Amino acid sequence: MRPVRKAVFPVAGLGTRFLPATKAMPKEMLPVVDKPLIQYAVEEAVAAGITDLIFVTGRNKRAIEDHFDSAPELEAELARKSKDLLLSLVQDILPSNVSCIYIRQSAPLGLGHAVLTAAPIVGDEPFAVLLADDLIDADRPVIGQLIDAALTHQGSILGVQEVLRSETDRYGIVATDPVGPRTERVRHIVEKPNPDVAPSTLAVVGRYVLDARIFAHLRQTQAGAGGEIQLTDGIASLLKEKPVFAHRYEGIRYDCGNKEGMFRATVALAMKYHNLHP
Ligand code: G1P
Repeated sequence: MRPVRKAVFPVAGLGTRFLPATKAMPKEMLPVVDKPLIQYAVEEAVAAGITDLIFVTGRNKRAIEDHFDSAPELEAELARKSKDLLLSLVQDILPSNVSCIYIRQSAPLGLGHAVLTAAPIVGDEPFAVLLADDLIDADRPVIGQLIDAALTHQGSILGVQEVLRSETDRYGIVATDPVGPRTERVRHIVEKPNPDVAPSTLAVVGRYVLDARIFAHLRQTQAGAGGEIQLTDGIASLLKEKPVFAHRYEGIRYDCGNKEGMFRATVALAMKYHNLHP
């Protein structure tokens, strides 16, 4: 398998669950303690050796582009005041060998459609997908754990965790056969099944390493759950042609797609990394 150098960040969502905070600001820019959500995902990818960051954006997402760009006026002001620590926080968001590429998703047709939008930039090499809503605190970057598993098992890898049966209708759910201590071969995957018909309680979280053949399958994928073109349905088609594995990553996930998860992440990270206590 070729090395994984590119990561796709679908960031076109409207963030309606956080209104009014997201009325004029992308939800990916909401801070957890002192960093926007998207920066956690980007740092995870960069720590795993990703060099090409592909953001699939939409309207009102300019703040993301500005965040990962240089800020000459701010930098000059911090330099003039000798605020070196703050200056390095602003300047060192990305290492110099990393590039950002932005492409617009023309219409909100679903996660599968967002990933397909990145096809001309990804080309025919394996690539990562990170959903910034899933903030995962881990000693080893989770996407790096998945890339290692992809190299070991020579296939696409989905990050998974066990969830409550009552929650299966919030996730892609897999049916699997074990192949290693943390890795299982995916037999079947279904988007947001009701608890009574879910094939298991093993849920896909927002971390994927995918074979570029996924694009051919996504082009054929019809609208599914919620009337959207689902990445899960593209993966269901891909696994008829290529091996797909589920990997139980090591790390604690916070679902920052809702207020409770954001709050939990904020408290946990503030205590762990910022020496703040209740
Ligand atoms: C998306 C995917 C779903 C996955 C989830 C992980 O759903 O469609 O398969 O389990 O992310 O967070 P969303 O949360 O965008 O509804």
